[in-house]
Amino acid sequence: MSTNTITSSPAVRSFRSPTPRSPRVTMLLRPTTVSSTTAASVPILTKLQKDCATPVPVLRNIADNMAADMRAGLAVDGGSDLKMILSFVDSLPTGNERGLFYALDLGGTNFRVLRTQLGGRDERVIDTEVEQVSIPQDLMSGTSEELFDFIASALAKFVKKEGGKFVLPTGRSRETGFTFSFPVKQTSIDSGILIKWTKGFSVSGTPGKDIVACLNEAMGRQGLDMRVSALVNDTVATLAGARYWDDEVMVAVILGTGTNACYVESVEAIPKLQSHKSTSGKTIINTEWGAFSKGLPLTEYDRAMDAESINPGEQLFEKTISGMYLGEIVRRVLVRMAETGSLFGKHVPEKLQTPFALGTPNISSMQQDTSEDLEAVGSILYEATGVDSNLDARKMVVEVCDTIAKRGGRLAGAGIVGILQKMEEESKGVVFGKRMVVAMDGGLYEHYPQYKRYLKNAVAELLGPELSSHVVIEHSKDGSGIGAALLAATNSIYEH
Ligand code: BGC
Repeated sequence: MSTNTITSSPAVRSFRSPTPRSPRVTMLLRPTTVSSTTAASVPILTKLQKDCATPVPVLRNIADNMAADMRAGLAVDGGSDLKMILSFVDSLPTGNERGLFYALDLGGTNFRVLRTQLGGRDERVIDTEVEQVSIPQDLMSGTSEELFDFIASALAKFVKKEGGKFVLPTGRSRETGFTFSFPVKQTSIDSGILIKWTKGFSVSGTPGKDIVACLNEAMGRQGLDMRVSALVNDTVATLAGARYWDDEVMVAVILGTGTNACYVESVEAIPKLQSHKSTSGKTIINTEWGAFSKGLPLTEYDRAMDAESINPGEQLFEKTISGMYLGEIVRRVLVRMAETGSLFGKHVPEKLQTPFALGTPNISSMQQDTSEDLEAVGSILYEATGVDSNLDARKMVVEVCDTIAKRGGRLAGAGIVGILQKMEEESKGVVFGKRMVVAMDGGLYEHYPQYKRYLKNAVAELLGPELSSHVVIEHSKDGSGIGAALLAATNSIYEH
């Protein structure tokens, strides 16, 4: 996977379904010149469906493995694929937070800056302003200093526009929450070492460094008086944001370009935790479940994609269920169908052979096409991959999309059940005895209805009607921005 390919993949939580295609493209289709038969592709599809199958026993095994890996990762660092990172977030927002707080959110090809004026229990969020800046492609594989200078400079510009309802009491420094959506070994609430980049980032000089120090240095170079009060993963920020409105949120899951989950854990259930004290007896664990791998139903297409990626053998769950990869898996299947099954006629366009030419938003949009001749499918295919398709070929393509989305959604659902199982084992009744909320965010979850449905169905199938009636899977849209600002407030050096 080259970094070029990353531009075509959606940013974290910015995955949008493309706008409907113009009919002009459809007129370019030449049905007489494309193959009218899909017969040779049928066995390819059948094998794909078999390899991707996720019947309940497979899902149950995934959920059990997830719970076992969570335990092993809590026992000792490096105990399993799951890093089970301590977030140092022991208390979640209560609603009493007051004052002006910032949030900085870096997790994909865009980063966001936000400021919010909090008014305590009565006024809650008085005002919020958000700006989104896209990160130039070259910075995603440049040096650490270049990336952080760019971020700090955008932040400085944003701060200059502060006014209106946003008030910083005199004598105080501005405080920000920093949502950094990559695996970080947290060393305190406001420091942490980057373990590795994911989602196609390969910035040199950052792994092994304290991310907050990198940002502080860059803010210093900009002459910006701002203090990072909380360094958090996007899952943790989403949990905090959702908890602000609902006390029963216990788990947060991101399904966007990348994927991850965090949850509220009892400190007694964390053997590897030594000197850390938590007044609440609870702490949030960032599972980094994207690295999970046990029992995944993988295909030859997944293996080839992984082998060619910049992190082979890593992030296998992420590569199977998240937005950065689903379109690419579909594309690989279509290449096979085109080459050995002549699905799109004799010629296999170069565009189709370009890694990441087909994005997950494309496959989602194709699945929303309910027209008789699957016109939108034809247009999207033509635009994204350069292929001409007839109706049979389009139907075949939709089947492939559905197979990959179904596997992804169902596996994500099984992962959630694994987390719930682990929580329930620790303290009976914590999950299944009462209402409990899983806060979900990310463009894949938000903009791919079939995926979402598959996820929810898998959870219901695994838990059964009685237990699943307690588990509320709720979309917490962009909760991570406000969540990070709230955590900056909770961890403020000033009284609030
Ligand atoms: C990162 C996680 C992050 C997730 C969702 C993954 O690639 O490793 O830290 O939470 O993406 O953004």
